[in-house]
Amino acid sequence: MIDETLTMIPGPTPVHPRILAALARPTVSHVAPAFVKGFREALDAFRRLCQSESGQPFVVSGGGTLAMEMALVNVVAPGERLLVISHGYFGDRYAELAGAFGISCDVLRSEWGRAVPPEELARKLAAGSYAAVTITHVDTSTGTASPVEDYLRLLRGRDELVILDGVCATGGIDEPFDRWGIDVLLTAPQKAIAAPPGLALCLFSKRAMERRRSRASVPAYYADVNRWLAVMEDPGRYYSTPCVNEIVALGEALRIVHEEGLPARFKRHHRIATAMRAGLQALGLEIFTNAACCADTLSVVLLPKGVADADLRKETAARGVVLAGGLGPIAGKAFRLGHMGNIGVGEVAAVLEAIEESLRALGLAPAPGAAVSAAARHLAEVELVPALHR
Ligand SMILES: Cc1ncc(COP(=O)(O)O)c(C=O)c1O
Repeated sequence: MIDETLTMIPGPTPVHPRILAALARPTVSHVAPAFVKGFREALDAFRRLCQSESGQPFVVSGGGTLAMEMALVNVVAPGERLLVISHGYFGDRYAELAGAFGISCDVLRSEWGRAVPPEELARKLAAGSYAAVTITHVDTSTGTASPVEDYLRLLRGRDELVILDGVCATGGIDEPFDRWGIDVLLTAPQKAIAAPPGLALCLFSKRAMERRRSRASVPAYYADVNRWLAVMEDPGRYYSTPCVNEIVALGEALRIVHEEGLPARFKRHHRIATAMRAGLQALGLEIFTNAACCADTLSVVLLPKGVADADLRKETAARGVVLAGGLGPIAGKAFRLGHMGNIGVGEVAAVLEAIEESLRALGLAPAPGAAVSAAARHLAEVELVPALHR
C-alpha cells in the first residue's frame, strides 16, 4: 500500500487491498453483462447481510445521509408524525431531516453516552401514534448502542413503521431484519462493511414498500424508491448511472463478509471492542459511553486532564494512527476510535501502542506495555478474517 496509515476513525475504515483492487478494475458500461451480474450479486449479498429473505434492497450512489432520507420520505408524508429516538448527533439528524420535509417530529433524547430507557418509549407510545419511529443502532457521536430489541418489543403489533439507522453497525453487529421486524434498514459501506464511501444502502420490508405504493407521489425524485425499483429488480435497466466501480468494490467487500460468516464477524467485533477498551482503561483512560450501552464498533474515550485533543491526535498520527475528535458537547473532551470492518489483532496492538507512546510524549506515564498486555487476554480469542490471511 502507498499509505500505510491506520485510519481508525469511525468511518471510513481501512479498506483491504482486495477491495481496493476491485475498485481499481476498469470502469465498464453500467449495462455490461458482467457488471449487471455483479450488481445483482451485491444486492443479494447485502440482503443476506441483513438476514432477510424478502426485503427489497436498494443500492444507490450517495451516502448514509441519502439512505436516511430515502428511508424517511418514502414512508412518512409531510404533515404526518415521526418519533425519533436520539442518542446523539445522528439521531438528531433525523429530526432535522423531518423538519426539512414538513414532517412533524417528537424526539426522545437521552443524555449523551446513555440510552433512552425503553419505559420512556412505552410512555410515548401510550400517549399517541406515529407514522414511523427511527432508531439509530449505534450513534457514532456518543458510541451508544441502542437496546433495539427492547424497543422493538414495544413496537410489535403496532402500525408505526420501524426505521433502523445501521450506518455504524451493519456488518459488525447482529441486525436480523426479518426476525426483528424492521421495516427499513439504512446503512452505508464505509464502516463495518469496510468498503469505500459513496453509496446509500437500504433494505425495505414488504410493509414499507406497500406504504410507498399507497402514495401517488413522495417529495423526492432521486430518493424515490419507486423510481429505483425496476433497476434493483433488473440492474441492467437505467434510472441514473450507477457508480460502477463502487458497486464492484461493495460486491468484493460483501464477499469477504460472507466468507467470514456473520456469527464469526459479529464475535470478532465484540472481542476486538472488549480488547480495545481493556487496553485503553489500562492506560488510565476513561470510556465516555455508559458501560451498559457501549457499541462493538467504536469507542468514545475521554481525554486525560491536561491533554488537548489536537495534541493527542497529532501524536498518534505521527505514529501512523488516525483518530477522530469528539462531536457536539464532547468536542475537545473526548476522541473517537473506530474498531470495525476488516481489522484484527495487529491493528488493535498498533493502535494501543501508538496511544500509549503518544500519552508518554505528552508527559503522562503509562506503564510500558500496559495497554497491549491488558488487551492480550481478549486478543487471544480474536480470529483472523479468513479471506484476508491466506
Ligand atoms: C449513525 C450514522 N448515521 C448516518 C450517518 C451519515 O452517513 P454519511 O456521512 O455517509 O452521509 C453517519 C455518518 O457517520 C452515521 O454514523
